[in-house]
Amino acid sequence: MAKDWDLIITGGQVFTPSGLVAADVAVAEGRIADIGSLDSAGADEVIDAKGLTVLPGVIDTQVHFREPGLEHKEDLESGTRAAVMGGVTAVFEMPNTSPATIDAAALNEKLTRAEGRAWCDHAFFIGAAAENADKLAELERLPGCCGVKIFMGSSTGSLLVPDDDTLRRVLSSGRRRCSVHSEDEQRLKERFELVRDGGKVAQHPEWRDVETAVRSTKRLLRIAREVGRRIHVLHVTTAEEVPLLAAAKDIATMEVTPQHLTLAAPYCYEDLGSLAQMNPPIREARHREALWQAVRLGIVDVIGSDHAPHTREEKQAPYPRSPSGMPGVQ
Ligand code: DOR
Repeated sequence: MAKDWDLIITGGQVFTPSGLVAADVAVAEGRIADIGSLDSAGADEVIDAKGLTVLPGVIDTQVHFREPGLEHKEDLESGTRAAVMGGVTAVFEMPNTSPATIDAAALNEKLTRAEGRAWCDHAFFIGAAAENADKLAELERLPGCCGVKIFMGSSTGSLLVPDDDTLRRVLSSGRRRCSVHSEDEQRLKERFELVRDGGKVAQHPEWRDVETAVRSTKRLLRIAREVGRRIHVLHVTTAEEVPLLAAAKDIATMEVTPQHLTLAAPYCYEDLGSLAQMNPPIREARHREALWQAVRLGIVDVIGSDHAPHTREEKQAPYPRSPSGMPGVQ
């Protein structure tokens, strides 16, 4: 007799722990109830997935939603709705909101706001700063916290750990793997002259150049090793960082984003202007190819979206006042 399922997805190639298999998937009360060759007769709803790949929901481990403080760009309801529309069933959300998520009160505020409004599972990062460096061991273990995020270079918002001493204090406090935006703040400041007075958005990867990323990642690896802390380097963008990180697999994991795997300078800036502006920047094709090679070789551990929306109006401000970041969770 056919079973009483709410939904059957039939005829697709299903991604399972042992690889792709031709199978049907049955769902009952919001959960996968069976996988195999199934009779769809008793199901309330049938989705024909012939010719399609059936994936489990994915986790996006880098999204910047904008609540609290920047809800004119997006809020937790709309951000998580975009996530589930794209098959993302859990998100790790970044701390550069307003106020920044740097203490227990701010973390709990996000958890409360998400209650009953978030469409997907969620956890929030605690941002590292000089003022909370010594409390991070405690903060990273709070319920609903997915870990500590360090901005070594400034991006959207004010969170920053620019110097080695503060970085050492941050990495010495706590045990969980730390996620890091790796760009060298000192070099960013020195090179800002290049674009300060009316630069062009195509110069974004020239201001925030390869050396800015490489220098930062070398400092990070040195200090992480010194204090014995595991790290996760977010949105890696340069060919030069790949061998550094490949040689440090015992302490370091790495992420790349779909945008760095699919776009390349200078064309992305010619075609999209500041819509292609993000930190770290989209670079020339040789970097994109090196990142693909790192994916193929299994050096890349995570593909994350770095979802970071701004309004179209904000994006239209003249560079370099146009904000960095683009949506991507969906
Ligand atoms: O381009 C970016 N935008 N990079 C970041 O690191 C932050 C993000 C944002 O929040 O806008």
